[in-house]
Amino acid sequence: MKNWIKLLSIAILLPTASTGLLAGEGMWLPLLLKALNESEMQSMGMKMTAEDIYSVNRGSLKDAIVHFGGFCTSELISDQGLLLTNHHCGYGAIQSHTSLENNYIRDGFWARSLADELPNPSLSATFIVRIEDVSEKMLKGVTDKLSEKERQSMIDKNMAALKESFALDIHEELVIRPFFKGNQYFAFVTMTYNDVRLVGAPPEMIGKFGSDTDNWVWPRHTGDFALFRIYAGADNMPAEYSEDNVPYKPKHFLPISLDGVAPDDFTLVFGFPGRTNQYLPSFAVEQTVDVLNPAKIGVRDIALKIVDAEMRADAQVKIQYASKFARIANYWKKWIGESQGLKATDGVGRKQRMEDTFTQRLQNNPQWQKKYGDILPQFRQHYKEIETFALMRDYYGEIIGRNIEIMRIVGYLNNLTKRLESNDEAAYLNYRDRLINYFEGFYKDYQSRIDQKVFAALMEHYVEKAQLGIADPVKGKLILRGNMDYAAWAKDIYAESAIPHRDRLMAILDKTPGESVAALQKDPLFMLYSELSKIYQAKVSETYEDVNGKINRLQRLYMEALMEVFPEKRFYPDANSTMRVTYGKVNGYEPRDAVTYTPVTYLDGVMEKYVPGDYEFDVPQKLQELYISKDYGQYADKNGKMPVCFIGSNHTTGGNSGSPAIDAHGNLIGLNFDRVWEGTMSDINYDASICRNIMVDIRYVLFIVDKYAGAQRLIDEMKLVHPKKNQRVEGSTIKRKRLPKKGNKGRKAATVPKN
Ligand code: ARG
Ligand code: ASP
Repeated sequence: MKNWIKLLSIAILLPTASTGLLAGEGMWLPLLLKALNESEMQSMGMKMTAEDIYSVNRGSLKDAIVHFGGFCTSELISDQGLLLTNHHCGYGAIQSHTSLENNYIRDGFWARSLADELPNPSLSATFIVRIEDVSEKMLKGVTDKLSEKERQSMIDKNMAALKESFALDIHEELVIRPFFKGNQYFAFVTMTYNDVRLVGAPPEMIGKFGSDTDNWVWPRHTGDFALFRIYAGADNMPAEYSEDNVPYKPKHFLPISLDGVAPDDFTLVFGFPGRTNQYLPSFAVEQTVDVLNPAKIGVRDIALKIVDAEMRADAQVKIQYASKFARIANYWKKWIGESQGLKATDGVGRKQRMEDTFTQRLQNNPQWQKKYGDILPQFRQHYKEIETFALMRDYYGEIIGRNIEIMRIVGYLNNLTKRLESNDEAAYLNYRDRLINYFEGFYKDYQSRIDQKVFAALMEHYVEKAQLGIADPVKGKLILRGNMDYAAWAKDIYAESAIPHRDRLMAILDKTPGESVAALQKDPLFMLYSELSKIYQAKVSETYEDVNGKINRLQRLYMEALMEVFPEKRFYPDANSTMRVTYGKVNGYEPRDAVTYTPVTYLDGVMEKYVPGDYEFDVPQKLQELYISKDYGQYADKNGKMPVCFIGSNHTTGGNSGSPAIDAHGNLIGLNFDRVWEGTMSDINYDASICRNIMVDIRYVLFIVDKYAGAQRLIDEMKLVHPKKNQRVEGSTIKRKRLPKKGNKGRKAATVPKN
């Protein structure tokens, strides 16, 4: 393992062109920056050292970066635990406090004091205390001779031993994750705070401006931010929610630069990217583009159309379904862009050409040929084998597991009955109480009338698309009814079943375990689910898991092979929800022939897009007034314009939402929230010419907090700085006039003179 790192650090000394890695590509582990990236980052303009970014010995940038709820990133921006993330990351929390009377989604929310900040039982904030390479310990005794099963049990054993012996302080937890497809392992010591309160959110006309039409699209004009605060016990340590908790005192928080960005400025994005797949063989990419993505898109097309119409017709439905709808629509659109982008950039062809080179190099080296020669032919065979199973898995997952809401609920109930069937009453009761808790939130936002429509449409789709007999139970029921009228069937089954009705279901769960299970097992939706899941397990799941296991084994070997066969390339591990650093530059791009996109949007663009009363492009009155009076305070750029968003060549993915965009000196300049349409395929095939991440300009965030919301108390907490004012003019020996010493750094917002 160590050799790799050495190899990698040699590779970095080569000029970028010959490494095959374009500046911007890569999601790097913070503890390896020194070895792999520091010199490149500095050559791109960074003024920090790797130790400034990640240190276990002193406060560093990493101490300001927080995994938000396990699905997004956030960062500390004050010494009182003030946390910045995206509006769409806080959406579930904002929605949970929203009603028709207190419509925080529509109107925004601004806590006037600490006491007004709203607790969110389901949110968490996780810090990374330190990271360690544990590859050697985890792979002890693992050899090529072991079968997959033996290998796994050896690794499980090593993991258990490692966890046993690992020294953790109070409140610390240990997470061990495979990297490079299981060729390496890293351990993350984490600390999680569970008292995270909502502090402020703009109205969705700002925080979600452009909504689904503009989602994944540049030019963009969304103020996609929200503010939270971490609370701690009196000892500054994690504590469950209590009125007595106090704002958390961070080891480090990010100063905020008011100087903005210019093309070619260095940017660093620090966060928790979720999942990427950069090392797939061409066969897999082809399958994703041609088979799997279109199937998933097709299912969501149907569900989204139904829910969208209902949301537009009824304000209450809009509140209830806003968050769920956004989540489903988000990846629906992402898959469309991803498939288009892979086609447009010849993603499959590029992989094939790389595979040709790989094959040639093997042929010139008998040892490699012997060890790795079978990989690509076997990939081809296994991907062919798995195709139908993978497709059916996606249909089942999308239809039964996700888009018919009640089926997902029945899935949980099915898990519940299993606990009693295996005679574990304690486990049953524990799980039941957790479910009841969850259901309280679920039914608040559930309309069986709408779900019933989705059910009817998707069941029909399931019957149409199913192979291997997995929809036979549905067909059987309709044949018994004497016609193929899905709507009528849906109406009957939703009326007859207790599960779409909160009170009826709760009454069942109130009974003794034995009675509850008996009642559930007689319920028509429960019975339908059981049949569908059984047939799916038998016809799809087993084979899928079997072939997928073989693919995973090959993928691990392929990763090892790539690193050995392409020693001139610098490799980075796929995203796996662990902490990463990516860096690039502020940069526009050319989406298509004769079109050039510049990297910054302005408030003028918001007004260009403005459609009065529109579902997606309305603009709040107050913002219009600020625009007309150009009342931008200290937040305007040097031409007096109000910047809104900017793009750069940072390699990000889902989970990076809410990540800070940081300048060369370690100051906050923006808030990552999306990627551009032409580059959504970056999870599979990053292309530096068109892959861009989208960030809200931090000055827009501050402008909204200060001028729009009047939340001066929050601005006062922050540390606003002017790093560019202190810079020497490039290529000149004349220094700009010095600001008074105290004014240069560490200046509090309250002392920054207003324009
Ligand atoms: N596309 C961004 C991301 O993947 C933002 C999604 C939230 N916005 C929305 N309209 N659904 O999360
Ligand atoms: N919008 C994404 C997120 O929520 C970021 C991305 O996919 O670029 O994490």
